[in-house]
Amino acid sequence: MPSLKQVDLDPVYLEQPEAAIIEKIAQRKKELGDSLLILCHHYQQEAVFRFADLTGDSLKLARAASQEKSPFIVFCGVHFMAETADILTTPEQTVILPDLRAGCPMADMAAIDEVEYAWDDLQEALGESTIIPITYVNSTARIKALVGERGGSVCTSSNAEKVLTWALEQGDKVFFFPDEHLGRNSAYALGIPKDEVVLWEREKPLGGNTVEQLKKARIILWNGYCTVHMQFAPEQVEMWRKREPGIKIIVHPECRHEVVSIADHYGSTEAIINTIRDSPAGSKWAVGTEINLVNRLKNQYPDKEIHSLSPFQCLCSTMYRIKPVYLLWVLDSIVAGHPVNRITVPPEIAEKAKLSLNRMLTI
Ligand code: 13P
Ligand code: SF4
Repeated sequence: MPSLKQVDLDPVYLEQPEAAIIEKIAQRKKELGDSLLILCHHYQQEAVFRFADLTGDSLKLARAASQEKSPFIVFCGVHFMAETADILTTPEQTVILPDLRAGCPMADMAAIDEVEYAWDDLQEALGESTIIPITYVNSTARIKALVGERGGSVCTSSNAEKVLTWALEQGDKVFFFPDEHLGRNSAYALGIPKDEVVLWEREKPLGGNTVEQLKKARIILWNGYCTVHMQFAPEQVEMWRKREPGIKIIVHPECRHEVVSIADHYGSTEAIINTIRDSPAGSKWAVGTEINLVNRLKNQYPDKEIHSLSPFQCLCSTMYRIKPVYLLWVLDSIVAGHPVNRITVPPEIAEKAKLSLNRMLTI
């Protein structure tokens, strides 16, 4: 979780009507011109998303951060994304997260101490085997540093299969964290047999495995998950197929394998957007991902019939913490010359984390 504490906003901000806030953000953007770059993840709410200079999934935004030269980058997303941007930008660039409480519950499921202990236990149990660590980008900078130091790579939802293939060429086994489901879906897509994929339950000794099971395994999955994507279920897929014959199901690979395996398509947020954009008018979709993105797709493609796969509102409440009023507050602080909510990864961690991020960017 963020180490800085989010300060309470001056009541002056909270008393303003949303329309006035929106107008002021536009004004601040104009004043800051090219010195400001606003990056927005696809799960951001519309009132913030409309101000994006660049939008994308985690991979696209990480690449943008490594290439863009603006001195101020305001990251409308969650904490690990802003950390990644800080690692990939120069020390002269300032990365800002509008609300420091915007964390990712999945990233918090892999605490550095837990992963270090698990790594040591695995090394001891497996003796001579070479284990390659892979971390999903939804992890802290410290975890990325641990992976970088040990010869591993970061992956995102759009390159997990590629990175896994690379890792299996480098060593005998892969230790994949924090997302069990992305790891499992990618391993099965590569044809790795089910009995060579084991779960590491972080609460149990040896992750709940015997030494024999670990020796047989090629992929060892940390038991972390996304609270939003866990809400999609195979029954919802069946319900839509019964209700709307011809409907296509598309889901994010953070969903459980029971859902991904029966969907018509799966992919990162960017892949979901592109697949629906390129589908013919009149096509019908049930989409298994965060609700802000599903609603945006509905509005953008009125010629298609787009539904959320789940009957419930699958909202990422931490992404939703980035509200227009916080965006205005951070822009005001830049204009005033005292930027707030700067995300700074200590250099000794950033250096090692960069190894694992750069491995991903070159694989
Ligand atoms: P992508 O946008 O990279 O697919 O990731 C989704 C996500 O959960 C971000 O937290
Ligand atoms: Fe984390 Fe899931 Fe929210 Fe993405 S959607 S930021 S994985 S909780």
